[in-house]
Amino acid sequence: MVNPLCSLRYVPRMSSPRHTSAVLVVFMALAVGVGAEPLKEQSCDVVGDESSESQMEKALLKKLEPLSQMRFNATVEIGAAENYTYQFRVCREVDSSSHDFAGLVQRDRRTGKTTVIGRINETQVFNGSDWIMLIYKGGDSYGRHCSGEKRRAVIMISCKRGVTASSFSIVSEEREKEQDCFYLFEMDSSVACPAEDSHLSVGSILLITFASVIAVYIVGGFLFQRLVVGAKGMEQFPHFAFWQDLGNLVADGCDFVCRSKPRNAPAAYRGVGDDQLGEESEERDDHLLPM
Ligand SMILES: *[C@@H]1O[C@H](CO)[C@@H](O)[C@H](O)[C@H]1NC(C)=O
Ligand SMILES: *[C@@H]1O[C@H](CO)[C@@H](O)[C@H](O)[C@H]1NC(C)=O
Ligand SMILES: *[C@@H]1O[C@H](CO)[C@@H](O)[C@H](O)[C@H]1NC(C)=O
Ligand SMILES: *[C@@H]1O[C@H](CO)[C@@H](O)[C@H](O)[C@H]1NC(C)=O
Repeated sequence: MVNPLCSLRYVPRMSSPRHTSAVLVVFMALAVGVGAEPLKEQSCDVVGDESSESQMEKALLKKLEPLSQMRFNATVEIGAAENYTYQFRVCREVDSSSHDFAGLVQRDRRTGKTTVIGRINETQVFNGSDWIMLIYKGGDSYGRHCSGEKRRAVIMISCKRGVTASSFSIVSEEREKEQDCFYLFEMDSSVACPAEDSHLSVGSILLITFASVIAVYIVGGFLFQRLVVGAKGMEQFPHFAFWQDLGNLVADGCDFVCRSKPRNAPAAYRGVGDDQLGEESEERDDHLLPM
């Protein structure tokens, strides 16, 4: 028979974990909801659908990712005729509120008119040993030039170690052609650099590791002996007695292995007679003293 008091006492205990987990689930749902809230900015989309995108292009876009939060501007002023600012972002929209995928925009400083040179939803990217070429296609159509085709931005990113990104500038605008016109830009960045191969061989890495371990042992042991154990003088070295013993053992071992004659055997090279062997060393040295 169950004691009613007992069961009463158990009721809150049983329900409390369930209650907690229910609250947890609600909190987690909230957290996920809040986490998904910020609008994800559009990123580069290489030509072709998901399955046919090349792995090389994906790898390169990943390499360019550190530049995506930066904004680049270049200005050209040629007389009164051309006064433009070019605004560029790597794999992001220049103006994310306009939702036009524009990755490189030309702004006429006299009239304020903007022209999209290239869009990030039509990206092409490839690389060489120390450069990356980023191409945005699908810009606004030319008027009279280039048979009215869509504008295209070609951005050459050259390797420069130590700089995240710098010197964005326009090189030229090729538009006196029937087709395949383009705007050419250049910039420097360390992301275009080849991976620096380590100049350290396995041996030197081992050596460095070994030296570091010894340094840590000595410094750590020294501090331990001094601060925790309270040792003074030579005793501050870690395991001083052990190393002393080891030193003696090594010396004995070497004495045993390396010495060709017993240590206390009379040395024949002295060239002294048997009668002199009993002499005290002081007496033997006496003749060395100046008169
Ligand atoms: C480029 O211009 C934009 C808008 O005018 C500005 O927010 C940004 O800081 C500028 N970037 C640089 C590197 O000057
Ligand atoms: C280009 O436009 C800017 C801003 O309107 C102006 O300050 C500058 O003088 C112009 N440059 C030329 C060469 O007209
Ligand atoms: C890219 O975006 C522009 C503007 O929204 C659109 O006109 C164009 O068709 C898009 N291109 C692709 C390949 O989806
Ligand atoms: C292009 O970049 C990849 C890594 O993203 C690299 O493995 C490859 O060697 C680069 N291509 C050339 C020609 O250097």
